Amino acid sequence: MQNIFLTGGTDGIGLSAAKSLLAMKHRLFVTYRNKKKLDAVKHELKTFYDNEKITFLKCDLSEPSEIDETVNAISNSKIKIHCLINNAGTILFKKSFNSMGIEKVFATNHLGPFYLTNSFLEKNLMHSGSRIINVGSSAHQRAVLDFNDLDSSNSRSWYERYSRSKLCNLLFTLRLSKKLENKNISVNCVHPGIVKTNIAQDQKGILQFIVKLVLKYKGISPEEGADTLIYLATNKTVQDLSGRYFANKSETKPSKEALNWDVADRLWQESNEIINRLSS
Ligand SMILES: NC(=O)c1ccc[n+]([C@@H]2O[C@H](COP(=O)([O-])OP(=O)(O)OC[C@H]3O[C@@H](n4cnc5c(N)ncnc54)[C@H](OP(=O)(O)O)[C@@H]3O)[C@@H](O)[C@H]2O)c1
Repeated sequence: MQNIFLTGGTDGIGLSAAKSLLAMKHRLFVTYRNKKKLDAVKHELKTFYDNEKITFLKCDLSEPSEIDETVNAISNSKIKIHCLINNAGTILFKKSFNSMGIEKVFATNHLGPFYLTNSFLEKNLMHSGSRIINVGSSAHQRAVLDFNDLDSSNSRSWYERYSRSKLCNLLFTLRLSKKLENKNISVNCVHPGIVKTNIAQDQKGILQFIVKLVLKYKGISPEEGADTLIYLATNKTVQDLSGRYFANKSETKPSKEALNWDVADRLWQESNEIINRLSS
């Protein structure tokens, strides 16, 4: 039995992963944002749900102060995590900002997991031999970061904002794997596939309608979408692999930009600077 910390376990791929991991008898720590939605999820998980086996923690990943509270809760519980799955993610058609003025897709998809993961590591909350899994996307393929506008707050394209944030997931994975080289903790990134979920439903309109149609007719089920991340979280054969990118339970090649060490180093440094600025 492993202690698994899963972000975004209240919908889509994360909810399917939670069900499978509970069925495999792991102990879960799952983040949620909305109490009403959580109640519905608890109801849905009833067959898998066991008070002893699942703990829900309120955490909006776009808000560093909520991440601090979550990390403190785990730290105070004296529990060590065997596996951290950074799954929560969002697509927002309408540009919006967190309470500190950072663009929300960047804040949720990159800065939040960056801060959460580093806080877990700094506070020594992860077991030796543990795994970190970042849920990225093939949408990163053509993305390039703009260090003059790192959170893409000047970008007019929702797809650019999203695809850059997913490139950040891969660059973070690459750079973190170097940092963890001698620590016996692995980190890998996964593309779950095109999956029929509720992502990109923030705003009613033609874009939302098109994305919904594409996911409905081209997408695999959330259960299938969760397969590769469950494989990375639990399979012994991948335990020693780190800094890699997976899709369909196989290692795959990310874009050239996602393997650029200079970009990965600079992203790391600038993400740290943002976090330090926000917490001072
Ligand atoms: N669906 C696809 O085709 C696809 C393809 C490639 C990659 N992905 C990636 O897969 C991951 C899961 O996406 P999904 O398709 O399962 O989407 P989803 O059905 O919308 O589920 C997203 C989950 O993330 C949570 N979340 C969103 N914003 C958050 C925030 N600010 N703070 C905390 N939690 C937040 C949501 O919480 P609430 O329940 O409160 O909304 C929900 O639990 C994402 O990282 C996404 O980029 C998806």
